Amino acid sequence: MRKKYTKFFIVAVASCLCFVIFFSRLTDVERTQRDLATIPSAATDTSSKPTAVLINTTKKKTKTKSVTPNELPPLTISVKFRNDIPKNGAFWNRKLHSLLRQFDSGNNETHREPHKKFHCQPESLELLQTNIQDIHSYPPLYGDFLKGMECRDPPVLHDQPGKCASDEIFLLFAIKSIPKHFERRQAVRETWGREGLYENGLQVRTVFLLGRSSADDPSLDKIISFEAQQFKDLLVWDFHDTFYNLTLKEHVFFKWMLDRCPQVSFIFKGDDDVFANTQAILNHLKSLDPAQASTLYTGQIISDATPLRDPKIKYYVPQSFYEGPYPPYAGGGGFLFSGNLLPSLYHVSFYIPFYPIDDVYNGMSFKAIGITPTKHDGFKTFDIREQDRENPCVHKDLLLVHQRNPQQTMRLWRNMHSSMLTC
Ligand SMILES: *[C@@H]1O[C@H](CO)[C@@H](O)[C@H](O)[C@H]1NC(C)=O
Ligand SMILES: *[C@@H]1O[C@H](CO)[C@@H](O)[C@H](O)[C@H]1NC(C)=O
Ligand SMILES: *[C@@H]1O[C@H](CO)[C@@H](O)[C@H](O)[C@H]1NC(C)=O
Repeated sequence: MRKKYTKFFIVAVASCLCFVIFFSRLTDVERTQRDLATIPSAATDTSSKPTAVLINTTKKKTKTKSVTPNELPPLTISVKFRNDIPKNGAFWNRKLHSLLRQFDSGNNETHREPHKKFHCQPESLELLQTNIQDIHSYPPLYGDFLKGMECRDPPVLHDQPGKCASDEIFLLFAIKSIPKHFERRQAVRETWGREGLYENGLQVRTVFLLGRSSADDPSLDKIISFEAQQFKDLLVWDFHDTFYNLTLKEHVFFKWMLDRCPQVSFIFKGDDDVFANTQAILNHLKSLDPAQASTLYTGQIISDATPLRDPKIKYYVPQSFYEGPYPPYAGGGGFLFSGNLLPSLYHVSFYIPFYPIDDVYNGMSFKAIGITPTKHDGFKTFDIREQDRENPCVHKDLLLVHQRNPQQTMRLWRNMHSSMLTC
């Protein structure tokens, strides 16, 4: 009797177990299928024309979750970059080499959470004077820059969390603007920055990068809020939008990209007063081979530059602040780079102190991650001959000109796309 019950009991338990295992397997399979179904791919996307995907499916990034600073990929900082920036008494040089030493001796903790190294406690000029003896001869705005050099995490005021949600984005325009440039932004939206599907199914998106106007300016906060809601293309952070804060603007933009648009193939970063030839840019990007595409950093390349020492000019850099050559860099009016460099660029920026000139800082960051810029003659950041500036035919083969006001931009765009145009 007892034996029979025990046997029955064992059989019953065993079948229950089998059932449980079987069903949990089933739901696993279902779950995987569901997950797969939510990953948009060129093959399942029926809404658009066949996509000319530059990076083929074996290399294509699946729609990944955002990359948080804690999940940054391992970083190598190039020897060339380290060696070309002299170790000398200038403030920035000292700061850089101190960060590089931290990087080399870094324990796992600092490598995983590099952002924790920075403590935003605006320093007083008196304190800074211990490190920069002639700080009182610096232009006043330089003082603001120095005081804020450690502040890297301003709050986001307007976000666009859905910007890259639905499709695989081929090109993202990231346009540096300032609050009061409404008209420039509108001209960009209506012309070369138009979002949507272009030839060959390439998706293009646009964001404008903004800080805040100064306390002395009339407040534009309400109008900016309206604009952000209306057009869904403004990214606004709570910092003072000045020339010397452009490196900060870039840093927060990279962070935003990793969070919201980590899968974008290419990024165009530029000013709001340039004229970009979107179709020519797309054609160029599409023509790249996979190796070029994955390491792209191109534009008008400025080589062999050194700091300018005339205090009256915008790009002035005091001798006691930085001493050394500049790396080759793409003119900040507009340049292109590959989206898969974003994690490394963001990561390395924790080991390169902010610099008052953002395109020079870019050059340093790319060099530090081992990327050399390639020049493209279609980028005219110093503009073209005066007599050609309204000529749509001349612009057909160019990728970018600087600079055009909103009216010129509108006219040029209209004429370039006119069916009556014969070049
Ligand atoms: C994708 O690229 C890899 C190498 O980059 C190549 O071996 C493969 O054949 C390509 N696949 C397709 C479908 O083009
Ligand atoms: C860092 O982490 C790796 C594995 O995650 C480990 O092998 C290594 O010993 C760690 N290094 C230090 C300095 O803690
Ligand atoms: C950058 O923004 C911060 C935060 O608003 C501000 O304190 C600082 O003065 C700004 N720096 C410059 C150089 O304008």
